[in-house]
Amino acid sequence: MTETEKLLASCLSEIEKCDSLKKIEAIKNVIFGKNGKITQVMDKLRGLDQEDKRKLGAEINSVKNEITRQLNLKYSRLELKELNKKLGSEFVDVSAPARPRSFGKIHPLTKVSEEIADILSYYGFVCADGPDLENEYYNFTALNMPDHHPARTMHDTFYINTPSDEKGRHLLRTHTSPVQIHSMLANTPPYRFFSIGRVYRSDSDATHTPMFTQVEGIMVEKNVGFAHLKWLITNFLKKFFAAKDLSIRLRPSFFPFTEPSAEVDLNYEVKNGEMAFGRGDKWLEVCGCGVVHPNVLRYGNVDPEKYQGIAFGFGVERLTSLKYGVPDLREYFESGDRWKSTFGFHHVS
Ligand code: DAH
Repeated sequence: MTETEKLLASCLSEIEKCDSLKKIEAIKNVIFGKNGKITQVMDKLRGLDQEDKRKLGAEINSVKNEITRQLNLKYSRLELKELNKKLGSEFVDVSAPARPRSFGKIHPLTKVSEEIADILSYYGFVCADGPDLENEYYNFTALNMPDHHPARTMHDTFYINTPSDEKGRHLLRTHTSPVQIHSMLANTPPYRFFSIGRVYRSDSDATHTPMFTQVEGIMVEKNVGFAHLKWLITNFLKKFFAAKDLSIRLRPSFFPFTEPSAEVDLNYEVKNGEMAFGRGDKWLEVCGCGVVHPNVLRYGNVDPEKYQGIAFGFGVERLTSLKYGVPDLREYFESGDRWKSTFGFHHVS
């Protein structure tokens, strides 16, 4: 056996022994590496004369080519073997049931807010907005509650610990009524605005949450009065509850920003666990409303000799609870997935 034949035989036996892709790299090193088998034979070229050098060199080259060919062959075989092994142990069960996917749901309050906005837009009201972070001027003074007015203390206000300015202390608005003032100041009558947003009061139990949602409406026109207000609220509620004969009760009340003022009660009865409106002997308060006080019109830059206003405020959670039967207000703000799907507000796109 010549030197090169021995070399080829020993390399091929190394390759033969190799049984994993990982080992191929190590074998390459044993053969072609710095102190590898080929290098060792190459060293022998040094002492040879020209003719023998050429001859041995050519032989080594053909051995190298053969080894490379065998290595590649081995590589593909091992690759196939490992793939087959993997395919045999890991398998995809195409008959397995698909995992359930959950879709986003519209929050009940968002859904109801959109319904309210639709109805009020139908009656010509335009959407308006105001800041959650207010000051005493817009939240109280301009709504006819001057400093030290007793109604101020009834609002359980969250005051913000910042220096007060000419508009008084900063606070989280306790109702959406300050939007009335912002809207009046930014527009020239006649107009109809509504606003839906969060309000804050430091109060918390099953029927009170420190943050809740109100919808506010104001309409300022010539010769508008209480009759319009009654008609508007009745028809709004009829549409909202999709009820043909819904009856309301206007109870005299007091709000500093309206005169006269009323609270609106909705007539209902519970039959087989379902609420039916427009009959029965139960009444539930849903709204505060009234004819806008002349002082409030003046704060809004409106001349009360020329224009009158009517205004109303609803609690959105309360309307939602009535329509969809949600008993505990706190649930609106916990918003667990299970709760949302129970109440079935699926988003249909
Ligand atoms: N702002 C009142 C509240 O939070 C609700 C209200 C009553 C709004 C009468 C009005 C209104 O616009 O006219 O209790």
